[in-house]
Amino acid sequence: MEKLRTEIRRHEHLYYVLDAPAITDADYDALMSRLRALEERHPELIPAGSPTLRVGGAPREGFQQVKHSEPMLSLDNALNEGELRAFDERVRGLLGDAPHAYVAELKFDGLSLAVRYEGGVLRQAITRGDGDTGEDVTENARTIRSLPLRVAANEPFEVRGEVVMPSRAFQALNEDREQQGLPRYANPRNSAAGSLRVLDPAITAGRRLDFYGYIRLPAPDSQWGALECLSAEGFKVSAHRKRCKGLDELLAFIQEWETGRERLPFEIDGVVVKVDSQAQQRQLGWTARAPRWAIAFKYPPRQAETTLRSIEIQVGRTGVLTPVANLEPVGVSGVVVARATLHNEDEIERLGLAAGDTVVIERSGDVIPKIVKVARHGDARVKFAMPSQCPVCGEPVVRAEGEVASRCLNPNCPARLRESLRYFASRGVMDIDGMGEALIEQLADKGLLKSIADLYQLNAGQLAGLDRMGEKSAARIMKGIEASKRQSLARLINGLGIPFVGERTAALLGGAFGSLDAIAQASEEKLQETPEVGVKVAQAIRRFFGNEHNREMVERLRAAGLTFTQEKVRTENGPLSGLTFVITGTLASMSRDEAKAMIENAGGKTAGSVSKKTDFLVAGEAAGSKLEKANTLGVKVIDEEELRRIVSKGGQA
Ligand code: IVH
Repeated sequence: MEKLRTEIRRHEHLYYVLDAPAITDADYDALMSRLRALEERHPELIPAGSPTLRVGGAPREGFQQVKHSEPMLSLDNALNEGELRAFDERVRGLLGDAPHAYVAELKFDGLSLAVRYEGGVLRQAITRGDGDTGEDVTENARTIRSLPLRVAANEPFEVRGEVVMPSRAFQALNEDREQQGLPRYANPRNSAAGSLRVLDPAITAGRRLDFYGYIRLPAPDSQWGALECLSAEGFKVSAHRKRCKGLDELLAFIQEWETGRERLPFEIDGVVVKVDSQAQQRQLGWTARAPRWAIAFKYPPRQAETTLRSIEIQVGRTGVLTPVANLEPVGVSGVVVARATLHNEDEIERLGLAAGDTVVIERSGDVIPKIVKVARHGDARVKFAMPSQCPVCGEPVVRAEGEVASRCLNPNCPARLRESLRYFASRGVMDIDGMGEALIEQLADKGLLKSIADLYQLNAGQLAGLDRMGEKSAARIMKGIEASKRQSLARLINGLGIPFVGERTAALLGGAFGSLDAIAQASEEKLQETPEVGVKVAQAIRRFFGNEHNREMVERLRAAGLTFTQEKVRTENGPLSGLTFVITGTLASMSRDEAKAMIENAGGKTAGSVSKKTDFLVAGEAAGSKLEKANTLGVKVIDEEELRRIVSKGGQA
């Protein structure tokens, strides 16, 4: 098991920290399944920091407040060159013109997190909070793949850094939320915060967060050394950093990344400048608010003004009609923008928008920019009204009560078909190489694609007969179609286009049911037992599989040989299933989180307070009111020795 863990950790570091995977996802999954299976048989042998503990435990009732080891202060801002110059002059003045260097780093646009390690294991992760006290989000932070659970250093230390949501994950999340009729997150920072500060760690686990370290306590001799040290210890630190001699070099770095930020996989909102030497940092000290040895140079928001020419309607794959702003093309920090999403008619109402108006647009993480506000009304304003008929097929449009979206209900609407095909074939779904928008358009026009299932009836001859298509490309596409049959069940479910079922819900359904048939046959009640599946989603699933066209499509996909099954995700069949534990006091040989993880890995539940439903109270040193309550209620009280015994034997204490 230890050998497997070492191997898995190595691959996680290669994949999540260095962005240089050495094996395929499937091989990685296989290593993990093997380890999980072994740990399931021997839960008493699961150490703190096992890679399987990233999944996160049961939902909590609230966050514990924890005091920071040192205050987590903010940085002063410089909004232009003059303010940066003033900072440099102050530094030089205070250092008596002694030689010094700066380190310029990217300013990640996320939320800061302090992570403590002890005995080589991740012990605690705390949000910034008010700077003195933050919230304990350890369980959630554990699910961030680039944050090491184990490190080589045995002595205690703390890393401070930023939790960010990569731009692609942010876009996917928002698309998913839109699918589910949930409000979109405004920017990656809000979505990172919303993903980390949730009571259910399973939600954090499903959001692809990343952690970049930038401060180490105790600090090495220099900031440059701190970053190198963190990197050597297995943390992700930004590769884009520079040791600068003076103002000119700093300005060059700042300028380089003002345009360079477009290419980064995450959002930045500026550059942080720090005095490199730790001794000089101490000499400069702190004000009540911020260090004197660092400053944040903030980039101006990426906004521009332009005219709204018209509002067009796009019909999506589930029939949702989305208004899109058609803009007078304008440059926003190096990118020409001609379109902006408007989401729905309520959004247009909220903005008070009409064609002809001058609007302020902003880019913030989304590929497609958004309209922030109306700057000036136009002379000839054309008010927007949602059409009552689909602009593509002419069938009626319906806005259901309590929903913001208007939908075309015609399942055979050509726009819906094309969008469904495009989504089905796209990279994050069935990933059919070469099957892009233009090709789908051609195939649909020729009547060769009337359903997703038709993809698997295509042959090389039909493809080779199309515009700009040689035999070679045709062969490549046929290979892509063939390969897509082996995509996972979760991806297939996502690709089917069931309303409200996006990537995440699809994965949860696949894991809970283990096969497409089980999902298709499940009752609404049964479907709702799946995490995050409520009435609305369950109804949509029932309706989808109740539809004859859909059932036929599913049968054709089965006949084509697509993946209809997967391994079920183990939920409650460990040795402790059906038992509820409460942990209290200080345990001698493990932290409470570890005890909790041990119980949950063995299928048990943990709760925050003792009640009649509690089966065991695990009590450590200095147990207080919970112990009293357990005694009053006659709940069995055990120590950690006994807990280990129960875990290895099953429920008999
Ligand atoms: S150093 C003593 N380095 O920006 C302050 N902060 O506006 C230590 N941030 O609260 C912070 N990237 O959340 C530092 N490379 C970086 C950063 C960074 C982003 C955030 C951090 C901080 C805020 C200040």
